[in-house]
Amino acid sequence: MILSELNKGIYYVGVNDRTSSLFESLWSLPAGVSYNSYIVKGDKTALIDTVHISKAKNFIANIKTAIGESPIDYVVINHMEPDHSGAIDYIVKSFPDVTIVGNKKTIEMVEGFYGSISNTKVINDGDVLDLGDGKSLKFVITPMVHWPETMMTFEQSSSTLFSGDAFGCFGALNGGVIDAECDVESYIPEMYRYYAAIVAKYGTFVIKAIEKLKGLRINRICPTHGPVWQDYMMHVIDLYDRLAHFTPQNGAVIVYGSMYGNTEDIAELIARELTVNGVSVRMHNIATADLSVVLADIMRFKGLIIGAPTYNSSIFPPIQNLIEAIVSRGIKNRVLSTFGSYTWGPGISVKIEKSFESLNYDTVSCKIEMKQSILDNDLYNRIEEFAKVFAEKVK
Ligand code: FEO
Repeated sequence: MILSELNKGIYYVGVNDRTSSLFESLWSLPAGVSYNSYIVKGDKTALIDTVHISKAKNFIANIKTAIGESPIDYVVINHMEPDHSGAIDYIVKSFPDVTIVGNKKTIEMVEGFYGSISNTKVINDGDVLDLGDGKSLKFVITPMVHWPETMMTFEQSSSTLFSGDAFGCFGALNGGVIDAECDVESYIPEMYRYYAAIVAKYGTFVIKAIEKLKGLRINRICPTHGPVWQDYMMHVIDLYDRLAHFTPQNGAVIVYGSMYGNTEDIAELIARELTVNGVSVRMHNIATADLSVVLADIMRFKGLIIGAPTYNSSIFPPIQNLIEAIVSRGIKNRVLSTFGSYTWGPGISVKIEKSFESLNYDTVSCKIEMKQSILDNDLYNRIEEFAKVFAEKVK
């Protein structure tokens, strides 16, 4: 590895994963993912987070490149999810005198996942660990971004924030580490997808964390996934803040399930009419779409239109799964409409609409419910009328 020194004595020692096809065995990784880790070197040396166990060998090689045969004195654990804590055991075996640093919940999880470790140091919110030679680490407890133990670490002399999952994104690093070295535009859709899949449920905690960070003068953000943010730091904070508040942009997403293409016919007509009325539209067939891409678009756009056929007297299962994903994340501030189709069991459109009751959406009931096929229905006028009303709310 060619060493990346972010600031005097602060090194990137993370790894890329372009082998795993799924993150958390759930979310696709078309562009891979990076597991970021950093070294802060004063008189004492601290490692900030580790990496997924599958990359431990590369990780140790990167550490050696940064510090040679010097010891690691501390491993600061900002987040215990095993994509970051997986190599703890490996580090402890390689550096037997190392001290694991974390808050009370962190240390409990360390022992739960990796067994008893002899040297641990429990820190509290606001504590400072002096590394000597001008380097010091201040700990900022930020629970539920993304697990209960999550915290951030601030190196005070360089104003560097090690932020854990916050401000991270999918996408392996393609040679560049700092944003100025990266094709940033390629990471922004991966940030939406990452946030929608991993962080969205915890928006209120992201907001609290961002508020708490306002007391710090930050020069760079070093997340656990994706580029280090310097030039684009404010842009990324703003994007996370908007996502956490579920602030949408104009436009609409249509997601539908369709067994034989009849429900899809309605989706196409709605999309066309919305477009004629000036709405930017994205469409997804839930049977073939990537759920993380669908959720990312739902996080992005104001209008949400969902359609499905009746299936076993209920909602077509992949759409039911999508509804659960939206409701469990508590995605707010959307304009909703639903449509459905049936052969002999009507009422699916209303059933879908009711599934979202807890989210208090601004709902436009389009009453578009098709019996069997579009041939037997006078739906065109209703779709035209619906599209005019819906368009006014989302453009
Ligand atoms: Fe990247 Fe929540 O772990």
